[in-house]
Amino acid sequence: MNGHHDHEEEQLGKALDFRLLRRMVRFARPYRLLFAAALLLAGGITVIELAMPYIVKMAVDSVLVLPWLEVQADAPPVAGAVPYDPGTFLVLGRHLSEPLRQALEEEGRVRRRFLVVSSAGAEAELARRYPEAFRLTPVGYAAPEEALREIPAADLLRLRLSAVQMLGVLTLAYIGFLVLRFLLTYGQVYTLQYAGQRILYDMRRAVFGHLLRLPMSYLDRQPVGRLVTRATNDVAAINEMFTQVLVRLLQDLLMVAGVLGIMFHLNVRLTLILLAFTPFILVLAFWFRERAREAYSAARRVLARINAYIAESLSGMGIIQLFRQEERSRKSFAEINQSFFRAQMRSITVYGVFGPVISVMQNLALALLIWYGGRGVLSGAFTLGALVAFTSYIRMLFQPMVNLSEQYNILQAAMVAAERIFGILDEPAEPTGAQSVPAVRGEIEFDHVWFAYNDEDWVLKDVSFKVAPGERVAIVGPTGSGKTTIIGLTLGFYRPQLGTVRVDGVDLREVDLRDYRRKLALVPQEVFLFSGDVAENIRMWDGVVPAEAAERAAKAVGVHDHLVQLPEGYRTQVKERGVRLSVGERQLLSLARAVAADPKFIVLDEATANIDSQTEAQVQEALERVMAGRTSIAIAHRLSTIRNADRVLVIHEGKLVEEGTVEELLARKGLFWALWQLQFAEDGGSSGS
Ligand SMILES: Nc1ncnc2c1ncn2[C@@H]1O[C@H](COP(=O)(O)OP(=O)(O)OP(=O)(O)O)[C@@H](O)[C@H]1O
Ligand SMILES: [Mg+2]
Repeated sequence: MNGHHDHEEEQLGKALDFRLLRRMVRFARPYRLLFAAALLLAGGITVIELAMPYIVKMAVDSVLVLPWLEVQADAPPVAGAVPYDPGTFLVLGRHLSEPLRQALEEEGRVRRRFLVVSSAGAEAELARRYPEAFRLTPVGYAAPEEALREIPAADLLRLRLSAVQMLGVLTLAYIGFLVLRFLLTYGQVYTLQYAGQRILYDMRRAVFGHLLRLPMSYLDRQPVGRLVTRATNDVAAINEMFTQVLVRLLQDLLMVAGVLGIMFHLNVRLTLILLAFTPFILVLAFWFRERAREAYSAARRVLARINAYIAESLSGMGIIQLFRQEERSRKSFAEINQSFFRAQMRSITVYGVFGPVISVMQNLALALLIWYGGRGVLSGAFTLGALVAFTSYIRMLFQPMVNLSEQYNILQAAMVAAERIFGILDEPAEPTGAQSVPAVRGEIEFDHVWFAYNDEDWVLKDVSFKVAPGERVAIVGPTGSGKTTIIGLTLGFYRPQLGTVRVDGVDLREVDLRDYRRKLALVPQEVFLFSGDVAENIRMWDGVVPAEAAERAAKAVGVHDHLVQLPEGYRTQVKERGVRLSVGERQLLSLARAVAADPKFIVLDEATANIDSQTEAQVQEALERVMAGRTSIAIAHRLSTIRNADRVLVIHEGKLVEEGTVEELLARKGLFWALWQLQFAEDGGSSGS
């Protein structure tokens, strides 16, 4: 059995579906304040990120590059210009308007850059020491850039003290922004992840809570692995959307808008040229993501197969070894393993190409920037600082576009997941009536019941019988005849397509099932023990059943002596630390569970099949006690159970073929007689009836 793993075709993406999106967002509504906070933080982070290259630009343009220009002109080109050589003026670069500056550059009138220091104080004194470099002008001592090369570094730094100080301030501002960005980013990630995890928690609770209420007829049709995937993986895929897409997308859009704004402000033409790259980047990114997604989901499909194969082999290891299938098993595994390896490598190759290709695109843009932008700086079309800032902004422009393709993938995956999850949540819960059955007397009636698990594949055909309160009824019949099915209908797990099942005269459809089930107990054909200790498994965590009742029940079915010998007695964990119970012991435990519930009527499904004859006698005695005064329906292959029944129903191929006491049925020499001959002849003979 490999029920634990998805047989699931990994579905590729799904187009945007706003109805689904709205339903998903509904889960986020309780946390909308957190999302708003994350969005606010996103705004802050974007502003900071935009500001950081600008600081670098400022450092370059207003500090590192000498601010004064020597301009050739007959008259002062702007106010504040001071004469230098005959026919030239010194001008502060930033005082020139952009068109004027460009005009001057094109006419070749801008000559050298100058350092100007105050004409008084320590700097002036220092400047006077280098008379061949500095000349006194109305704005202070001025020296052309090339003359500065003759001055020793230490003096130069002192001459440019204010610039050094400004550099310090800018560096501090840069570090300050770094710290702030770290804090805001941390806050944002935390807020988003917190909200995301809460949504995840809520969704898992909703899905599991709904699974608990689904009818058996639905659960029968679902592979367990698929439902497990719904409650875990699919929910996680939706969480991705909330944490990676919802806020990030807006943040990325904000970033693109901000970068474009600054870039256009710095230089329109350069920006337009670089924008020519965006279609390539977008197309490439989306094309690669598509390939990556296909490769990834192919790898996931094979991984599911590997998991299923390992799980199946582990649970059947005994059989594999016994039938010496190790070699075949190794071979099959090697095959799956190999295809997983290939799928992984494909996925890795796609990603391995994707990153570098995008990087090449970005660097091509950078190369263009250096070529075109460098010329611009040389011709004075824009500043060196702007060029430096552009190299950062260009990355900040392209990254969100690359992100966009990933976000689109996540969104599509979330759509698929959401469709599946809402598929479960929309599945109608087990229908139940409202009528409570206060004191179940235990009268069960099947009235012309027809039932099929699937369509018209009738498992029960026109079955009618009545069990009186306090009566003991045994059901016998060949394997697959529909005995367990009758019990499923009696407990309300399934509803008949035709006919009616009644309890105490009330149609089971009208009955409040939870209320009804509280009053009965089932000892199922396949024992199920929950992880938990032995006592809890007997009491079923029911506060109503007192602790001693577990022990009393265990004594009644004769498993007490064994249980106290377990390492921690009744507190022994059933599934942990290797404490395993034998199949017979499990059945006794299951029987004790029914006894402890002290039900009005009790349903047994071959509960005594795996018990030795000595224990069986003990159990029989316990059953006698449990069944006394209660209604009981027992599916039994055991002679003792059948013999003590008030009435025996014989089921064959979904039909009730015979009915009566053991003696009556044997006298008829029908199917029951034949079964009896086959199964119990020897047993019956030895008990010497
Ligand atoms: N959940 C289910 N979905 C579909 N078909 C089912 C389901 N459970 C049982 N069946 C089918 O219904 C028929 C009756 O099954 P049922 O379990 O009632 O037999 P049974 O009389 O209890 O047999 P056994 O003596 O082996 O326990 C079988 O053919 C079986 O394949
Ligand atoms: Mg059965």
